Amino acid sequence: MDERVYPRQRWSASIDIPGDKSLSHRSLLFGALAKGTSRVNNLLTGEDCLSTMRCLEQMGVAFDRISSDSYLVKGNGIEGFTEPTDILDAGNSGTTIRLMSGILAGLPFFSCITGDSSLKKRPMKRVIEPLKKMGAAIWARGGDQYAPIAFKGSSLKGITYTMPVASAQVKSALILAGLQAEGETRLTEPLKTRDHTENMILAMGGEICLSGDEIVLSGRQRLKPLNITVPGDFSSAAYFLAASAALKDGWIKLKSVGVNATRTGFLDVMNSMGARIITEEQHDEIKGEPVADLIAESRGLVSTTVDGALIPRCIDELPLLAVLATQAVGTTRVCDAKELRVKETDRIAAIVTELRKMGAEIEERDDGFEVKGPTPLKGASVQSHGDHRIAMSLAVAALLASGYTLIEDSDCVEISFPMFFTLLNSGSFE
Ligand code: S3P
Repeated sequence: MDERVYPRQRWSASIDIPGDKSLSHRSLLFGALAKGTSRVNNLLTGEDCLSTMRCLEQMGVAFDRISSDSYLVKGNGIEGFTEPTDILDAGNSGTTIRLMSGILAGLPFFSCITGDSSLKKRPMKRVIEPLKKMGAAIWARGGDQYAPIAFKGSSLKGITYTMPVASAQVKSALILAGLQAEGETRLTEPLKTRDHTENMILAMGGEICLSGDEIVLSGRQRLKPLNITVPGDFSSAAYFLAASAALKDGWIKLKSVGVNATRTGFLDVMNSMGARIITEEQHDEIKGEPVADLIAESRGLVSTTVDGALIPRCIDELPLLAVLATQAVGTTRVCDAKELRVKETDRIAAIVTELRKMGAEIEERDDGFEVKGPTPLKGASVQSHGDHRIAMSLAVAALLASGYTLIEDSDCVEISFPMFFTLLNSGSFE
């Protein structure tokens, strides 16, 4: 499917953002690991989370649908998982395949997990290698590099491990394996990444100790069921925050958005660019997962530099930053972001190629990009590269351009934000 997006001058809207993708995956997975029924409200029912649900169903986990976004997860504990009779399919979802690998490695049966053509190109050695150190019996394509990944099922032992890449997916996979293992698991991250897994374990009565940059957990833990209302996804909110800041006359209120500090680096980036974002009414249902209403309005923007420890805190928003930077005065630089090259697509190459078609002055760097602004954008035919975050970033660029933009292969927004184009066309505008 292709989507036409027209430019806008004004925009005033109040929007409910759908549930956070990372927390939705974890609510399903941890709910399944607990013994008893967990309730998940405002679950994101995008394609990625449905992939997680389907994989769990294949291993005997049952879900009751209460409403379109409220589900009960009927957990039978880790011992309740049954051998899947077919290959598990993680679809496009890196979070599903990597977190699920942490579970499958310690289960006492054979399983195999794969994904779509994008997922089969993404690096899996980063989880397979440490899981093997824990005693897992795993085989994967290309010398343990790529999916499909097969697991024989073995008993795991805790390890002490320093992760070479800053990745919440790898960290979470090792924590999930560590929960089943014998003995203690000690993990060190090169840079702090999103900590939803740690927060959820604590909320479910588990024990995980965070001291400095080390995460320590003991094995053979049992978790209690969870009752959670998933906050709105900050990464989805970001498209509306950026559009409102960059439009001539924009105002937006986004309700009940998750503002966990490990996720909101893009707020810091926008503030450093001169944007004005007001954070209202904070509360946190789960410790470490604060929720707030966010208000953004038009502002003149200036360039910024994003690197180092800030990168993991805004990794999914960097293609969007490239769009925002086209409207900022000066040169915006993003460095230390090589991880973007191994996302759903090579996000550095994709955003540089597509924004150039719209007239942006953007240069590709090995570990990021450089954008000169402000540049008037013009509507064009652009490609999502099958990547939801590229499609939505280009939609924001289209709002700021002259003439309409055709976003090809736009249905990939279903991955994380099925209502994206409907909401983009909502609000009062000219
Ligand atoms: C995620 C972690 C990040 C992020 C992805 C979701 C998670 O990936 O890009 O969208 O839910 O843990 P990496 O861990 O590979 O950086």
